[in-house]
Amino acid sequence: MKILAIETSCDETAIALVEASGGLKSSRFKVLENFVSSQINVHRPFGGVVPNLAKREHLKNLPLLLEELGIRQQALGKIDAIAVTVGPGLEPALWTGIEFAKKLAQDLRKPLLGANHMEGHLYSNWLPVRINSKSQAPNPKKTPNIRFPAVALVVSGGHTILLYMTSLTKWKKLGETRDDAAGEAFDKIARLLGLPYPGGPEIQKIAAKGSPRAIDFPRPMLNQKNYEFSFSGLKTSVLYYLRDNPKAKKPDVAASVQQAIIDVLVKKTMRAAREFGAKSVLLCGGVAANRALRENLQLTTNDLRLKFFVPDFEFNTDNAAMIAVAAYIGSLRGRKYRITAQSNLNL
Ligand code: KG4
Ligand code: ZN
Repeated sequence: MKILAIETSCDETAIALVEASGGLKSSRFKVLENFVSSQINVHRPFGGVVPNLAKREHLKNLPLLLEELGIRQQALGKIDAIAVTVGPGLEPALWTGIEFAKKLAQDLRKPLLGANHMEGHLYSNWLPVRINSKSQAPNPKKTPNIRFPAVALVVSGGHTILLYMTSLTKWKKLGETRDDAAGEAFDKIARLLGLPYPGGPEIQKIAAKGSPRAIDFPRPMLNQKNYEFSFSGLKTSVLYYLRDNPKAKKPDVAASVQQAIIDVLVKKTMRAAREFGAKSVLLCGGVAANRALRENLQLTTNDLRLKFFVPDFEFNTDNAAMIAVAAYIGSLRGRKYRITAQSNLNL
């Protein structure tokens, strides 16, 4: 089944074409095209995403990306279904994708499947990943062999969620953030440091020149025996630290903040993995692009002989390939989302 997917929940306009096959126990995906048009430069002067500007950019970019995809594939008629993100996200942004997808589905006479953006992030772990082999093939990729039970850490700009999964479609939410999400903490703290939006990649960049042990920032809720998170207190301590230490070295602050966030995420994830006897640990969402977080989880899972999975970099931050995967799995399990903007949808 070939699925053309559309994602416009926040500040990335994305269209992808994905070939999906197999049942719930053997789903396989091949990303044929994956286009993302980033709006970072448009929102950057405002220090964050402006919903109506996002809408305007989506309206402009969607036809351009579709045209590019049509030219590359010359066979839009051969697709079997259209998928679109219905939530969570910014309402005006979601609506542009939904209206565009509705019209396209009508024009092509194809079914339209609604998808949950957070399921998209979760299921991005089932996209093929690049293998580090010396193979001669230009882009060797492999479908991850994820075994259950699994523990999944979903860390994006809006969400920080820890899940216990017993199958592709059955999970229990162990905990989530009580205030700021991990990505939001990166973004807000970057702002305090005078770094541009989005803050996560900027903090990562300057952290490379600092010491993660330079400043002992609090690790919120680290030792509480639950799977909840809270990051707004960390932001406040950084604010006070900068006020009291105006000559602080920014790379040290960035590296120490990054380490504080990583310590909490990794420790809680690993505790859940041990408690629930997980065979696999999954990481996904925009913050999964953070190299230090990936390396930390890789090392700690190795120590416990657990399998660690994280999607390739281009599928961590928002993209439409993950939306195609979510729509396919949703259709296999007979789950239908209403085709209307649902800004508060969750996992
Ligand atoms: O998943 P995503 O693209 O959008 C949402 O669904 O929210 O996540 C965006 C978030 C932003 O907060 C951004 O700062 C963060 O992911 N992010 C990172 C990195 N790359 C993106 N955080 C830390 N390190 C990174 N390298
Ligand atoms: Zn996202």
